[in-house]
Amino acid sequence: MPSPSATDLAAAAAELARGALVAFPTETVYGLGADASNPQAVRRIFEVKGRPSSHPLIVHFADAGELDRYAQDVPDLARRLAEAFWPGPLTLVLPRSRQVPPIVTGGQATVALRVPAHPVALALLGAFGGGVAAPSANRFGKVSPTLAAHVREDLGADVDLVLDGGPCDVGVESTILDVSRGSAVLLRPGGLSIESIRERLDIEIRGPSADGPRVPGRLPAHYAPSAELVIAALPELSERVAAFLARGARVGVLSPVLDAARTGVTYREMPKDAAGFARQLYSGIRELDRASVDVIVVVPPEASGLGLAVADRLARAAAAKGGPK
Ligand code: TXA
Ligand code: MG
Repeated sequence: MPSPSATDLAAAAAELARGALVAFPTETVYGLGADASNPQAVRRIFEVKGRPSSHPLIVHFADAGELDRYAQDVPDLARRLAEAFWPGPLTLVLPRSRQVPPIVTGGQATVALRVPAHPVALALLGAFGGGVAAPSANRFGKVSPTLAAHVREDLGADVDLVLDGGPCDVGVESTILDVSRGSAVLLRPGGLSIESIRERLDIEIRGPSADGPRVPGRLPAHYAPSAELVIAALPELSERVAAFLARGARVGVLSPVLDAARTGVTYREMPKDAAGFARQLYSGIRELDRASVDVIVVVPPEASGLGLAVADRLARAAAAKGGPK
């Protein structure tokens, strides 16, 4: 497993301090980081990603005890969640403190905050000593990176430095809970399952309301490969694949099993369990995209545990119908 040296980490922290963009591993996906207190540096994130400035960023920091540096009027519920699950794949949306510049939050009065669990992320954030605004290190609307090589493929010279921490362990983005109004509203299912939150804390978690803030992860079409993505249940896999092949399409299959042995498809075998599937979801999609298939047929795990985040990302990718390119 690659691991940046103390010198690499100090150099990366210095890059952040001078306003550069540093991609770094987290346990969920790679992030494209900039000093959250530097509006020019944050502006470059939006430019490089091609992301509309109205879509807010997550601020990452190393020490959960510093929550009040970035948020104010923090409800007790948020403190309990932070204590139970930070460092970890949970993002909390809270009223922002004046320390956070408006460009980070797309002008909203709330800010998304997370203490990631990856040792390289924690070491970088610790060495830097401040908040790092970071979206996933991919172009807007595309599949998130779970390897340093994905970041380099996607962003090339637009990123000043890439820290390589090996493959991301969780593989899908963090779970986002809006706790800014005292109750917990799920804005994005992710790397921390609802079941594991409920196991530890006796809290109610509601779905998002229609008048909630706009979140790009909640746009119907997002997380899109270049190929068209189609979701299938295992019993219908053969039939769906046969229909695409009959039309002359090049077909990729992302599934734990390929029921009827089939020639003429590019097969990427996936783990049967939801957590394993989530871990390999984006690298699997990228592999099939690289094989230049026209359509990717996916047989997803059950939509519980991490399977809920997998189902969410697949539904968005399917809605994109092979775009944006
Ligand atoms: O796992 C993750 O969360 C990764 C790693 C790098 O930490 N980051 C990530 O960032 O997925 P991004 O920018 O791709 O997605 C962040 C999501 C977006 O959907 C954004 O709209 C939402 O968080 N968000 C940020 N600030 C918000 C706010 N104040 N209110 C509601 N949603 C917010
Ligand atoms: Mg993203």
